[in-house]
Amino acid sequence: MGSPLDSYRDEFPVTKRKAYLISASLGPVSNRARRYLDEYIDAWASEGAPDPVWREHIFPQMRRLKETFGALVGADPAELAITVNVSLALSTIMSCVDFSKRRKIILSELDFPTDGHVALAQQAKGAEVIFLKSRDGLTIPTEAYEEVIDEDTALVYVNRVLYRTSAFLDAREICRLAREAGAWSVVDDFHGAGILPVDVHDLGCDFYTTGVLKWLCGGPGLTFLYARKELLPSLHPTITGWFATAEPFSFDLQHWDLHRSARRLEHGTPAAPVAFIAQGGLDIITEVGPAAIRERQQDLVDLVIARADEAGLPVRSPRYRDRRGGMVNIGVGTEAEKVCHALLERDVCTDYRGDGIRVSPHFFNNEGDVDRLFAALQEVL
Ligand SMILES: Cc1ncc(COP(=O)(O)O)c(C=O)c1O
Repeated sequence: MGSPLDSYRDEFPVTKRKAYLISASLGPVSNRARRYLDEYIDAWASEGAPDPVWREHIFPQMRRLKETFGALVGADPAELAITVNVSLALSTIMSCVDFSKRRKIILSELDFPTDGHVALAQQAKGAEVIFLKSRDGLTIPTEAYEEVIDEDTALVYVNRVLYRTSAFLDAREICRLAREAGAWSVVDDFHGAGILPVDVHDLGCDFYTTGVLKWLCGGPGLTFLYARKELLPSLHPTITGWFATAEPFSFDLQHWDLHRSARRLEHGTPAAPVAFIAQGGLDIITEVGPAAIRERQQDLVDLVIARADEAGLPVRSPRYRDRRGGMVNIGVGTEAEKVCHALLERDVCTDYRGDGIRVSPHFFNNEGDVDRLFAALQEVL
């Protein structure tokens, strides 16, 4: 069975040798990303003075990234900041919050650890952190949020797709509940951006963040942070730096005048090389489109689930398309780490969480990759 998207396998050299089913951990690098990076390095190597490298390459590239990502998620580029990772993005948001007015930060026990860590660090500023419990280990019902969000809530975190189980949360409704209570909502969309269509304005969140290294195939070291336009004037981060100011190149260290756009949430000199690599991934994801990506990916996830059923292996992710993201967790027993390494020796890439392996097909994978996974699993188990 072929897919029209199979031609994209040529963009990702790793797919020639490996069954690369690990984009939920690290998306593969593309030839396009390599080309953009090479162009930047060539310019850097050949320009006589540093100024053109900054002004003609690095700064325009940061703008281009915001335009591309903005179009992908429905944000205005002026609503986007670029940081190094989600941890820094979340810490920057937190640094804008006065916890003496509202104390509670609400998140779920299934959210990604850094969400919890950044929240817990705010206890020193008077925050109270509430972790919502999951009854089934798979997901958290919206009602659990509804029960605790109140007028003492400063901030509600939502992972639109849970990293461990791939289950969806109703992020839109949770953001609405937060808004109704006068709290800020923050969506960490590391497992949704690029593979699940989204419009951040329609989502109704105050903040939205994702790194580019997984489904966006953009490499480690670059993260977007969206902040709702109307909110911007009230944001005064204390985790900051000169690139957040209105005029960084005035070199005026005695005045602190924040930029009007979401750049006010940025810090210092950007990590330039990854900006070029990230553009390669984002361009491909934009070209294919999240809707087409989702369609193909869900066909492959269905196939993985069917093959796991045949092999008698438990499936720890939702079985229905409308409730899951792009990854499926398959129970392989307490030796999941060893299984994962044994698969890797057979050129099958997955990762593990708990006693399951996470299988994460992307749009460029095919049925042959899934066959290789289950043939290898049969040997290994
Ligand atoms: C939902 C989610 N948030 C955040 C992160 C990572 O945070 P950071 O960019 O700070 O490393 C991950 C995984 O790497 C994740 O799955």
